[in-house]
Amino acid sequence: MCGIVAAAAQRDVAPLLIAGLKALEYRGYDSAGLAVLEGGQVRRVRAKGKVREMEAIYLADPFPGCTGIAHMRWATHGVPNEANAHPHMVGRVTLVHNGIIENYVSLRAELQAKGYAFTSETDTEVMAALVDVNLSKGVSLREAVLATVRELEGAYAIAVISRDEPGRVVGARRGAPLLVGMGIGENFLGSDAQALIRVTNKIIYLDEDDVVEISRNAIQIYTLDGNPVERAMHESELSADAVERGEYRHYMQKEIFEQPRAVANTLEARIGVGGVLPHIFGVDGDELLAKVKGLHIIACGTSYHAGMVAKYWIEEYARLPVSVEVASEYRYREAVVPDGTLFIAISQSGETADSLAAMRESRRRGYLGTLAICNVPESSVVREADLKLMTRAGPEIGVASTKAFTTQLAALALLTLHLAKQQGLETAHYNKLCAQLLHLPRAIEDALKLEPQIIELAERFIHRHHALFLGRGAHYPVALEGSLKLKEISYIHAEAYPAGELKHGPLALVDEDMPVVAVAPNGPLLDKLKSNLQEVRARGGELIVFADSTAHIDVNAARGSVLRIDAGGEFIAPAVFTVPLQLLAYHVAVLRGTDVDQPRNLAKSVTVE
Ligand code: M6R
Repeated sequence: MCGIVAAAAQRDVAPLLIAGLKALEYRGYDSAGLAVLEGGQVRRVRAKGKVREMEAIYLADPFPGCTGIAHMRWATHGVPNEANAHPHMVGRVTLVHNGIIENYVSLRAELQAKGYAFTSETDTEVMAALVDVNLSKGVSLREAVLATVRELEGAYAIAVISRDEPGRVVGARRGAPLLVGMGIGENFLGSDAQALIRVTNKIIYLDEDDVVEISRNAIQIYTLDGNPVERAMHESELSADAVERGEYRHYMQKEIFEQPRAVANTLEARIGVGGVLPHIFGVDGDELLAKVKGLHIIACGTSYHAGMVAKYWIEEYARLPVSVEVASEYRYREAVVPDGTLFIAISQSGETADSLAAMRESRRRGYLGTLAICNVPESSVVREADLKLMTRAGPEIGVASTKAFTTQLAALALLTLHLAKQQGLETAHYNKLCAQLLHLPRAIEDALKLEPQIIELAERFIHRHHALFLGRGAHYPVALEGSLKLKEISYIHAEAYPAGELKHGPLALVDEDMPVVAVAPNGPLLDKLKSNLQEVRARGGELIVFADSTAHIDVNAARGSVLRIDAGGEFIAPAVFTVPLQLLAYHVAVLRGTDVDQPRNLAKSVTVE
């Protein structure tokens, strides 16, 4: 997704801006650019493709300058090309933008009527022109930006420079993140702390509708009505090292192998031998959760799949009704909210536009309260929720979510156990589930040992065009997650079904070219699943079954394989069985030679609707 870096410094900023963009590369994008202001002149370089392509153009003819803005673009309005890449320059103004301006068509028409001609298809160029119009009224850049954002509908984070105001960058945000980095004798703007962590760890998170002006020695923040306002400074705990790839070939592989530690961190000091500890949802958490009569969970993508697993868990063990919905649907429909319903948003990034908007929408729908399950402590979702339970996965760089998912499951398992105890789950049963959860990091570690077998298995997928994934109960979402992983990084079309649905349609697709991946842990549904697998076998489908080490599974050795996993118990099995599916997707993608960490068309943090 788009990324912004800006600097007002005492040294040449182009190398800093390029390094900042590189730190954001994991987000996924399709063009990049930067502009530097020096001596009343702005010089700009833009290129379609990766930051390194833009950097090569810059290095061929570098230019000095202590004030600058830079951007990576993930195309929304207009194709990825140089003309649509940011920064956009109109008159005195140069501007970069994340987000989508919804009223840009009418604004563009008004500006064209005033004589502005546009060179791109973007909404961003319209904003730059609008700032220029406002500047021509004789006001400062800050006032011109304030006047401009008051006219905008939609979401934006922007950084703007004017050739008439050397040493100054103005930023503004609504519905898209923007933060200020405080350096020594230099200050920065960024859309993500990761972009700035190499130059400072002192971060100010801007609030909705804030406008900020930075120079080398000053930072001044204003509300939308133009009044100065103070925002707290945080010391970010991110470290530049945490985002290094180390010995691994891809971030995704590194992140898959980090899961035992990430899950252990998520459980640490939250559950002990006696069970889930009090106050893990914050000081008021236990009091609020005691009133819960039902839960609505919203999320997108992988986080949505985690929510689906939680529905099975909470309904089974805590006997509370749970509904799970993708955020982009929830926000536009009139969900019925019974008394005592808790709203839960699950998000790795905490900046996903649909999830954030759904959470804001929930405020007017009469919920008991909101809980964020999230991986980024300073994110908007966390800041706006009543209660929070952080996953402690550490930075996840690969676009395909892996450790975020299993740590979300760990956090949701804690919530399940808390609610189950409160709702009177029998002590022996509760203790057994707690013991399983404490064992989860170890069980994931064991599952990772399947990698050599999975590398062999991956060979069979290289020339496939389609794959089916099957699961039942809490493993249906695991199948969904496995198919999402495969499709997003290997570009093989993959679908997941609850295995019982096979005969209601998808079975028509099964033939000798269709691999069918089944998640088959021990449990009350295993025999049912085995019958579903026979339906596949009878039609010549190739079965790849992930089963418990003790289960008897009958596949034709010539047309299928069974991989054995020690799940460590029914409760934690969904988290454990996810791991081989991640490895399968990863190794298929590696063999197919795709861009594993930055798959085409996708972005890490989807900050547009
Ligand atoms: O940051 P979030 O968890 O809110 O992101 C939600 C989805 O965009 C994300 O899980 C996406 O589906 C992953 N790339 C899938 O691997």
